[in-house]
Amino acid sequence: MWLSYSSMAQKYGDIVHLKALTQNIIIVSSMEAASDLFDKRAKIYSDRFRSTMIMDLLDMSWSLGLLNYGEPWRKARKFFHYHYNTSTIRQYDGLQFDVVRRLLRRLRTSPERFLDHSQFTFAALILRMTYGVHIENERNEHVVEATLWLEAFNEAIQPGRFWVDIMPILKYVPTWFPGAGFKKFALKARKHMYNALDRPLDFVKANLLSGTGSPSIAATALENIDKTCDASEQENLIRNSLGAAFGAGVDTTSPTLQLFFYLMMTHPDIQKKAQNELHTVIGERRLPTLNDRPNLPYVEAIVKEVLRWQPVTPLALPHYTAAADEYRGYYIPKGSVVLGNAWYGLGMKYLSLALIFWPFCSQAYPT
Ligand code: HEM
Repeated sequence: MWLSYSSMAQKYGDIVHLKALTQNIIIVSSMEAASDLFDKRAKIYSDRFRSTMIMDLLDMSWSLGLLNYGEPWRKARKFFHYHYNTSTIRQYDGLQFDVVRRLLRRLRTSPERFLDHSQFTFAALILRMTYGVHIENERNEHVVEATLWLEAFNEAIQPGRFWVDIMPILKYVPTWFPGAGFKKFALKARKHMYNALDRPLDFVKANLLSGTGSPSIAATALENIDKTCDASEQENLIRNSLGAAFGAGVDTTSPTLQLFFYLMMTHPDIQKKAQNELHTVIGERRLPTLNDRPNLPYVEAIVKEVLRWQPVTPLALPHYTAAADEYRGYYIPKGSVVLGNAWYGLGMKYLSLALIFWPFCSQAYPT
């Protein structure tokens, strides 16, 4: 889709309008237009799509990434930002270092399984940081439950995958009715989702009661509950926001690492330069830590380039307009889908020559 939308952007400009039956779709393909609409007019452009399968049958209307603009979204967003912002998260640097060391050991033992290792590493990292759960292998029940839930979600989010999204009345069909396989699918997915959200939180609560367990975002959040206000509402916010971290944080970071492997394999010259920098700055007797980042500009440029060159979310998440609007003389109706075309807007297509002609082009990646 992003390739077709990018050809359209090249031909018609950074604002393109399509119509699918009655649905208006607006594709935004420049930083300028994305910032004008998504940032400066966030009140109008921040609603999310409504899928009967996902919201009603999978019961995911709580998810931060699916909430419409409004008070519940603002609360969840504030909570999330408080616990996962770049400075708070530094207290987990040691934990990240440990998880990366385990990844390196796995890569040395079975390099051919690097795709599995990267997926497992980010699942383990998010679960440990968020709930203090130590995961030794892919068969861990928390990883299994969350993975099955997300697999179902990824299937449900495909446009046109389920009739119930086209005819919402079908959601009332009983599960035993012939052809109601979608209801059984939803029931199974819900079970995995509740397990993925509740079990790790129960684990943290039990640890808090017994005074055991590792530090985690969930433990901090549960301890900070204001007992003078509605505690169950606060606990719900914790449960749902932390659940969003697994959903949004694993399937984005692990393919990014996989792309890094791809970049290194297809560009050995870039790999060599990065390795030379590591050897010069760190030496060969220890591993780099996050504190070394400012002294490793080339490695830092590779990180930025992997995110820019092949973004794992080339069209981000679809936005919907909460009201009609006018932009640059175009009328944009209420209920339009608005897609931010990061693939085109960030000038994808080619790997930056700055990495090849470094250090002459190092100003392309200001630190
Ligand atoms: C390479 C890594 C990542 C990429 C490329 C990425 C990309 C994105 C994108 C494109 C959106 C939608 C923005 C929009 O159009 O509204 C998003 C939303 C979100 N991401 Fe990430 N993400 C990454 C990592 C993470 C991680 C590690 C976490 C959590 C620990 C996370 C949590 C979230 C949440 C909660 C939302 C929903 C925010 C909202 O709707 O207010 N993401 N992400």
